[in-house]
Parts: sequence; structure tokens; C-alpha cells
Amino acid sequence: MSRITVIGGTGYAGSAIVAEAAARGHQVTALSRSLPDAPIPNVTYVQGDATDAATLSAPIEGADVVVGALAPRGPLAGAFRDVYGTIARLADAAGVPLYVVGGYSSLRPARGADRFVADLSHVPAELHDEIRAGAALVIEDLPATPATLDWVFVSPALRFGAHMPGERLGRYRLGDDIAVQPEDGGAISAADYALGFVDLIEKGDHHRAQVNLGH
Ligand SMILES: NC(=O)c1ccc[n+]([C@@H]2O[C@H](COP(=O)([O-])OP(=O)(O)OC[C@H]3O[C@@H](n4cnc5c(N)ncnc54)[C@H](OP(=O)(O)O)[C@@H]3O)[C@@H](O)[C@H]2O)c1
Repeated sequence: MSRITVIGGTGYAGSAIVAEAAARGHQVTALSRSLPDAPIPNVTYVQGDATDAATLSAPIEGADVVVGALAPRGPLAGAFRDVYGTIARLADAAGVPLYVVGGYSSLRPARGADRFVADLSHVPAELHDEIRAGAALVIEDLPATPATLDWVFVSPALRFGAHMPGERLGRYRLGDDIAVQPEDGGAISAADYALGFVDLIEKGDHHRAQVNLGH
């Protein structure tokens, strides 16, 4: 049993990870600005704003593993990378690994190829900033952290999100920074993404690395 703190633990990805980890008997704390309408039993919900470093300290220092499930949208859009900088610094100081919910666009279609984010011409312009902020975490920010910080950036397949929740199949495919389904981007449900995510935490065999999960 591990103490797992999920920052953004009431969101689409975060709540699925919280549910999966709690179902396996981990001691889970979920941090978000608002409390959920349907709290998951045996989960500790902490209300706070992640832009405030003081709010982050106790949930990170009291954890064995920290999960970042924030989204670079809304009020957090401009502060997203800075907030993750603070989370990374606190996780490093506490000596705990950081697992980050990432995006598809930071993956590559093939070994040695550019990441998808290099060409967003087919993606609506209003999504570009969000996609670039998320990708910058794994392209620039996490690799620049001290080597003492253990991080894993977990990208989902292309078709993943609250508007396409999908169904639990009880399986997933795991890849590195090459998309497991580069042909059409693939899909993964929240439940199966969470299954793979908590497996990664429990196995602990990836370090300072990007991986991806697809059906
Ligand atoms: N196919 C893809 O590539 C794909 C698709 C979807 C998502 N994603 C990625 O997955 C990640 C998570 O996205 P999501 O859709 O799960 O996000 P989401 O549903 O919007 O959840 C965001 C979570 O963060 C919390 N939050 C927001 N601002 C906060 C703040 N200032 N302080 C504390 N908590 C805060 C929210 O709760 P409160 O609002 O109550 O604070 C919520 O729990 C993102 O990086 C996103 O880019 C990728």
C-alpha cells in the first residue's frame, strides 16, 4: 500500500486514477479547488489551489508517490508550467516520484521522427496553446529537473477525454515515446488508462521517461 497524492484528482483523468488506486487499497489523497459531487469511498479530498505552493506542500510531503493530473486550460493555462515546476521541486525535495498525466501530441509516430506537436496544422488553433504547454512539460521542463527527481510522463492515445469516455476493457498497450497506435492515434478509456497508470506506479520500472497507453 502506498500513499498516493493526485493533484487534480477530481478531473477526467485524475478521478479515474484515484478510483483505480483506491480500489487497489492505496491510501489516496485528491487535491482540487472544488470537492467532487460523488466522492470515492476511502479517498481523502483536499480542497486547495495548486497555484499556491503552500497548498501543495503537505499533500506532497505526506505522499510516497505524487500524480499530476492538471490540465493546461482555463485559469491554469498560463500558470500550468510554473505550477508543475513547483510540484517537481516539492516532489524532489520530498524524495517521491512524480507521475504526470500527459497528452498525445508530445508522442512521435516513429523512432527518430518529429513529435506530433511539431505540426499542428490539422488541429484547431484554439487548442494550440494547450497542446504546446502540455508538450513543453516533457520536452523541456521535466528533463531539466535535477537528476534526483524521478518522473514518468504518461501520454494517452489520441481519442481520450471527457467527451469520449470509452468503456473499460481491462487491458491496454504500453509504449515508450512512440505512439502505440500512430496510424490513427488510437483510443483509450479513462478506466483502462488508469489501470495502466497505476500498474506503472506499482511496478516502478520507468524512470525519467515518457510512456504511452492505448487500447
Ligand atoms: N488525448 C489527449 O492527448 C488528452 C485528452 C484529454 C486530456 N489530456 C491531458 O490530460 C491531462 C488532464 O486533463 P483532464 O481532461 O483530466 O483535466 P480536467 O478534467 O479538466 O481535470 C483537471 C483537474 O485539475 C483540477 N484543477 C484545475 N485547476 C486547479 C488548480 N488551480 N488547483 C488545483 N486543482 C486544479 C480540477 O478540479 P477543480 O477545477 O475543482 O480545481 C480537476 O480535478 C491534461 O494534461 C490534458 O492535456 C490529454
